[in-house]
Amino acid sequence: MRQIFPESAGAGALLGPADPASVTENLLAELARIYAYPARRWVRANMIASVDGAIALNGRSGGLSGAADRLVFAVLRSLADVIVVGAGTVRAERYRQAQPEELWQQLRAGRPPAPPVAVVTRRLDLDLGHRLFGSGSGPTSAGLARTIVLTTELAPGHRLDAARQVADVIVAGADSVQAPGALDALTSCGYRSILVEGGPMLLGEFVADGLLDELCLTISPVLEGGSATGRVTTSPGRTPFSGVRLATVLEDDGFLLTRYVRAG
Ligand SMILES: NC(=O)c1ccc[n+]([C@@H]2O[C@H](COP(=O)([O-])OP(=O)(O)OC[C@H]3O[C@@H](n4cnc5c(N)ncnc54)[C@H](OP(=O)(O)O)[C@@H]3O)[C@@H](O)[C@H]2O)c1
Repeated sequence: MRQIFPESAGAGALLGPADPASVTENLLAELARIYAYPARRWVRANMIASVDGAIALNGRSGGLSGAADRLVFAVLRSLADVIVVGAGTVRAERYRQAQPEELWQQLRAGRPPAPPVAVVTRRLDLDLGHRLFGSGSGPTSAGLARTIVLTTELAPGHRLDAARQVADVIVAGADSVQAPGALDALTSCGYRSILVEGGPMLLGEFVADGLLDELCLTISPVLEGGSATGRVTTSPGRTPFSGVRLATVLEDDGFLLTRYVRAG
């Protein structure tokens, strides 16, 4: 993996191999420096797209990924207090709790072994028996964090009751979870380094509300060429976000790992 922007850091500076078996402490330290969260609430999204803009292959994003993207994915999770994700992505990607052994524990000093996943859902149409909800008994000896559900008053009462058995439930809107309210609820729980892993609909709402501070976008060296629709963010009928500034570009095996921050 090499850094190709900013040039002041040394264009093409080799950081080290992204292959998980060969990751060095130096590479990890450099990634932790590049992706360090500021000391205030900061909303970062991490997404991947093919060169021709597809966000999924056969309905899932995993087919676009590679070693460097997986490494950065794990580093970003390791640096985060909470992972926010929409229910569509939870269903499509079969989300589970963040696994401590898949994170870089040296980046989590002073914090629990894994951040919780906070899933945003209007109607709570989720499989509460799925491993995203673990045993339902709170943080376990394995260091799994209890999942958070951010939902609305549209969620049926019996689903809310069942969800409360296995998750921390926050009702954060009448018919829609308002992104500002959701963020305030997470901040009041002590979560300030926030990682949004999509999907496009949820991320689009953060963008439209001007709440996204940073987008980490991996460009995968794939021409999907098929019928995939959708984009990294979608927010129909909402005011689009304005400018972003390129902050970092890393390259590995044809993958570009970009980092854009909100302009100004
Ligand atoms: N390339 C990438 O990096 C990447 C990343 C993530 C996902 N994806 C792909 O994106 C696709 C899924 O896209 P998507 O746009 O449907 O995903 P999404 O944003 O994860 O999920 C949409 C769902 O989230 C809930 N939701 C969103 N905003 C809400 C709000 N304000 N209030 C309450 N609930 C809200 C609703 O859930 P309910 O229906 O439960 O009410 C809604 O149907 C999958 O194919 C996945 O593989 C790609």
